[in-house]
Amino acid sequence: MSKEYVMSKVAIVYWSGTGNTEAMADLVAQGVSAKGGEPTIIQASDFDASRLKEFDAIAFGCPAMGDEDLEDSEFAPMYDEVEPLLGDKKVALFGSYDWNDGEWMELWEQRAENAGVNVVDSLIAKDYPDEEASAECMRLGSLLA
Ligand SMILES: Cc1cc2nc3c(=O)[nH]c(=O)nc-3n(C[C@H](O)[C@H](O)[C@H](O)COP(=O)(O)O)c2cc1C
Repeated sequence: MSKEYVMSKVAIVYWSGTGNTEAMADLVAQGVSAKGGEPTIIQASDFDASRLKEFDAIAFGCPAMGDEDLEDSEFAPMYDEVEPLLGDKKVALFGSYDWNDGEWMELWEQRAENAGVNVVDSLIAKDYPDEEASAECMRLGSLLA
């Protein structure tokens, strides 16, 4: 009898202004694939609650914007809508920042945990992901696969 393997379907939903978080999203997707999962990279403006049922796990990516905030025109409205509907799906949070120390991610992770989201890990990279951050992005993807 042949064995059936069910691949974990992982959405990588991100917003990126200058490409740094986008580069992280690509690396997270590579990490999902390396572990045998099926990644789908989706821009924040193309995602909403109606697509949640397609995926077993979701990595959300958004850089530090405003003043230690999520990007407010596309990412935050999408995230506000889906956060209460994530159930027990595995979720990871990632994003790039520059001049502060990653406070936006601490606030984001706290908010998600308060909402009962199953946050398995989070990851920040200063500007464009360097070699170490790139390896961390791939590891994050492997956690969701
Ligand atoms: C409007 C704006 C607001 C920002 N606010 C912050 C901030 O509050 N804290 C911080 O560390 N970096 C901040 N940054 C820097 C970005 O987070 C950083 O450039 C990041 O690498 C951008 O990622 P992206 O290339 O995916 O857009 C801000 C950048 C812009 C353009």
